[in-house]
Amino acid sequence: RAMPRFRMAVRSGAVSVTPILTNLQRDCATPLPVLRHVADAMAADMRAGLAIDGGSDLKMILSYVDSLPSGKERGLFYALDLGGTNFRVLRVQLGGKEERVIATEFEQVSIPQDLMFGTSEQLFDFIASGLAIFAQKEGGKFELQSGRTREIGFTFSFPVKQLSIDSGILIKWTKGFAVSGTAGKDVVACLNEAMERLGLEMRVSALVNDTVGTLAGARYWDDDVMVAVILGTGTNACYVERTDAIRKQQGQVSSSGKTIINTEWGAFSNGLPLSVYDREMDAASINPGEQIFEKTISGMYLGEIVRRVMLKMAEAGDLFGKSVPQKLFSPFILRTPDLCAMQQDASDDLQAVGSILYNVAGLESNLSTRKIVVEVCDTIVKRGGRLAGAGIVGILQKMEEDSRGLIFGKRTVVAMDGGLYENYPQYRRYLQEAVTELLGTEISRNVVIEHSKDGSGIGAALLAAANSKYAHDF
Ligand code: GLC
Repeated sequence: RAMPRFRMAVRSGAVSVTPILTNLQRDCATPLPVLRHVADAMAADMRAGLAIDGGSDLKMILSYVDSLPSGKERGLFYALDLGGTNFRVLRVQLGGKEERVIATEFEQVSIPQDLMFGTSEQLFDFIASGLAIFAQKEGGKFELQSGRTREIGFTFSFPVKQLSIDSGILIKWTKGFAVSGTAGKDVVACLNEAMERLGLEMRVSALVNDTVGTLAGARYWDDDVMVAVILGTGTNACYVERTDAIRKQQGQVSSSGKTIINTEWGAFSNGLPLSVYDREMDAASINPGEQIFEKTISGMYLGEIVRRVMLKMAEAGDLFGKSVPQKLFSPFILRTPDLCAMQQDASDDLQAVGSILYNVAGLESNLSTRKIVVEVCDTIVKRGGRLAGAGIVGILQKMEEDSRGLIFGKRTVVAMDGGLYENYPQYRRYLQEAVTELLGTEISRNVVIEHSKDGSGIGAALLAAANSKYAHDF
């Protein structure tokens, strides 16, 4: 009687799927020693990147933001946000200490795929025209003081070598963008030229990374914010640094003695637990060998890693029956929101998982198949969340070592934003768990990891206000 059952198991492929899953779980495991190594390596790479240009994977870019919003900012400001799947425009009327944010309005459009592979002019013309249409609709509570030019805080979320607060050169594209002719150019000049082509009279007063915008936006409400992290399409972190710790740029003047450093931690790669699927995805990407941390933990890639594991299980272990549906071969067909939706399914028969697999990739599944798929999602999401947590601890550790007690000995806020963090409860939980494991319960009580929703837009507008050519009027 036992024999036929055994044969069935072999035929159903279950025997060969199990080792695939086990190997994956082994390669992606993040026990405490692995997390500790990642946190230590992150701190060490930060120091190396501050010592000399090119000193480590982390670029540790100076933001030229050396005073954070005070609350006194006043007037009408615009913000532009380009950085992931969406492009956003925003206007905000700031009312100073008492009134703070009087009104905001924003519009969002998704970036057409072809623009991500087009020319620099096409992309910047698209941005400038979105801005022009939005600016035309000004009115209501929004009021520009007469004689002033409209000023913009430009959030441009790619690695930029800042030259000043309002100019910077694109080092390279990330997150699947492959626009020709922008790398090596000042992106503010690119935008200005596009605005001129349209006859639009606006001026960029601050060019910021999304992490920097988020830090500024969160700091406007809370003085304890010291770090900002984006977990969305891509990932990155910035923090408040003492200018005298930036050895590569000694003599940098900052009235406050502090500045924000954009770490570009997406490029971190030291000691990460990677699987064959990560390596193959990286090799097939448009930027092989780059942004390894980003490819392991951020929203653009989690779904794709799971798809690759599922494909392997389908081919080698008949996970979805004898033939593999064509769709499962398409890169990026499974998206991180799909993983998230599958992980929220609490039903006994995993009905929602079944329909997602069917709708997204034409996959027929039974309960045991669905369970395996959820297990794969959990493995990849757990690794991502825990490694993100370790990265955060790495930054805090570096700050603590330099300031003895000024970070762990008091309330310190890490402002978080990005769709992955915002929408994926399991990811958030794994991240928080890793932080608590690494810091211990007592210290982690002082470290507040807080969602700062859409802070980067307001943050960029606030920095535009702080660097306004009319700033002395305040
Ligand atoms: C990528 C970009 C970085 C940005 C991050 C989050 O890593 O290189 O500048 O902050 O994505 O959007």
